[in-house]
Amino acid sequence: MGVGGADWLDRHERESEENPDGALDALGIKPGMVVADVGAGTGYMTLKMATRVGPSGKVYAEDVQPEMLTRLRQNAAAAKLANIQTVLGGETDPKLPPGALDLILLVDVYHEFSQPQKMLRRMRESLKPDGRLVLLEYRKEDPSIPIRPEHKMSVQEVKLELEAEGFHLDQVLETLPRQHILILTKVKVN
Ligand SMILES: C[S@@+](CC[C@H](N)C(=O)[O-])C[C@H]1O[C@@H](n2cnc3c(N)ncnc32)[C@H](O)[C@@H]1O
Repeated sequence: MGVGGADWLDRHERESEENPDGALDALGIKPGMVVADVGAGTGYMTLKMATRVGPSGKVYAEDVQPEMLTRLRQNAAAAKLANIQTVLGGETDPKLPPGALDLILLVDVYHEFSQPQKMLRRMRESLKPDGRLVLLEYRKEDPSIPIRPEHKMSVQEVKLELEAEGFHLDQVLETLPRQHILILTKVKVN
């Protein structure tokens, strides 16, 4: 997605089309948590998470497009949220702190990665031992969802790709209008 997509990310219809607060309710984002929004864009989900984790928590908002992060910082300032740290990542490394995160959220992002395996390895290192990696992706199994197929994913695709990289697909929630909520945990290595 180019930076021209920034207005689309902030469109009002997202509330009814995607129920983003319902997704965050289902994930149990709580005060004091340290979380990351990878591929954060303009910060639509970052701001909601920052409100939930509160001043004792923190949100790392990461993206590869500096223009998105500029707009995200403006949005955070307008919302008077001081617990957000923006991070300019690379195509193979989100540049997040190691072993620090309770949860990493990727909303409509994983399918855009040019080097998914390398990103997964780095994200795995950034999670705490019991941390969760969460993907929201439009349901590829449902042709009636009006999104191009290359921007959708099936549960089976996610399971195959992420379980090959040291994750376990722990839960799939189907409570949102258009997206799967895919919750992955780290497979313990002895
Ligand atoms: C469809 S937008 C979603 C933005 C945001 N998650 C939201 O829901 O509003 C996809 C975002 O992923 C970012 N992106 C693409 N490849 C990336 C990568 N390798 N690492 C981090 N972000 C990436 C893009 O720059 C873009 O901002």
